[in-house]
Amino acid sequence: MSDISMQYLGLKLSGPIVVSSTPLSESIDNIRRMEDAGASAIVLTSLFEEQLALESRALDEDLSRGTNSFAESLDYLPEQGDYRMTHESYLEHLRRAREAAGIPIIASLNGFTPGGWVRFAKEMENAGAQAIELNTFALATDSKQTSAEIESQLLELVGSVCKSVQVPVAVKLSQSFTSLPNLCMRLEEAGARGVALFNRFYQPDFDIETLEVRPSLHFSTPSELLPRLHWAAILFGHLNGDIAVTGGVHSAEDVLKAVMAGGSVAMMASALHIHGIDHIGRVLTDLRDWLEKREFASLAETRGCLSRRSVPDTSPYDRGNYIKTLSSYSLRQTMAAF
Ligand SMILES: Cc1cc2nc3c(=O)[nH]c(=O)nc-3n(C[C@H](O)[C@H](O)[C@H](O)COP(=O)(O)O)c2cc1C
Repeated sequence: MSDISMQYLGLKLSGPIVVSSTPLSESIDNIRRMEDAGASAIVLTSLFEEQLALESRALDEDLSRGTNSFAESLDYLPEQGDYRMTHESYLEHLRRAREAAGIPIIASLNGFTPGGWVRFAKEMENAGAQAIELNTFALATDSKQTSAEIESQLLELVGSVCKSVQVPVAVKLSQSFTSLPNLCMRLEEAGARGVALFNRFYQPDFDIETLEVRPSLHFSTPSELLPRLHWAAILFGHLNGDIAVTGGVHSAEDVLKAVMAGGSVAMMASALHIHGIDHIGRVLTDLRDWLEKREFASLAETRGCLSRRSVPDTSPYDRGNYIKTLSSYSLRQTMAAF
């Protein structure tokens, strides 16, 4: 039988499928079912910087003075009651998850501004988190803020979280950075042991009848995997740390692609919301079948085999591919189909 175990953030995992941060893991029963189905680790839902700031007494004082610009920005964010867990109930859930599960539990901290809130990384570690995923989603909406400033703020945040804990830290990144290889190299220098590619954007939708802008959440499709594969394949071999692919992983084929691009693990959220937690077991069965049919002794030996470093012709990953793809488009052929 092919060995599907993988290493991620220094953790020895029984397989490549990690449950991505999702509310599904807010139930201990679900956590047990995820482990039974074959998940090799679980990333819990996030504790948000804004929520922690709201909880802090210091911020309350700032709010009453009405002078703190960060506090002002919180006016537009969810109220305390909108968050599903307080930090206390999060830590309690983390402890219970550790007791219930034999697989690693990764806590998720979500924010962007360096500050006092990063101390919760230590609390997560103390509560039993075996690793921390730091989700650094941010949007540049201020024309005065440069990309260099955003990156330097991100590096400062990652550095302060990594310094505060012993457990490994992975950084969940947005796709929109100009030079991702350079940024990832500097994240490693700041202490990160891995990167999770990528955060999904949840763009708001417009209601043109009421002229309202509304939040919208839709689950991913496998087409979202392609930019993740592209970047994992570019980064593989240039980083000492691990790559997790999150976004568009729905099937065994997607898991194999994620690993062949260079991922140590493939994370799943939408697929579990759509097909249920038992989907993990079906995907693992298909994965084992595929490996055995092709006589691979292990999944790990396929890691990075289609990365930019490994393929004889790198042009599919570079600008040449872009030109070739556009040039190969034939208007006559397309018109003939109509
Ligand atoms: C309902 C839902 C809630 C999510 N909540 C979080 C969260 O709290 N923190 C986080 O880092 N990612 C969160 N995510 C993003 C997922 O962890 C994952 O990165 C993303 O959905 C892409 O993976 P997928 O294609 O398998 O869904 C959430 C996703 C969904 C569908």
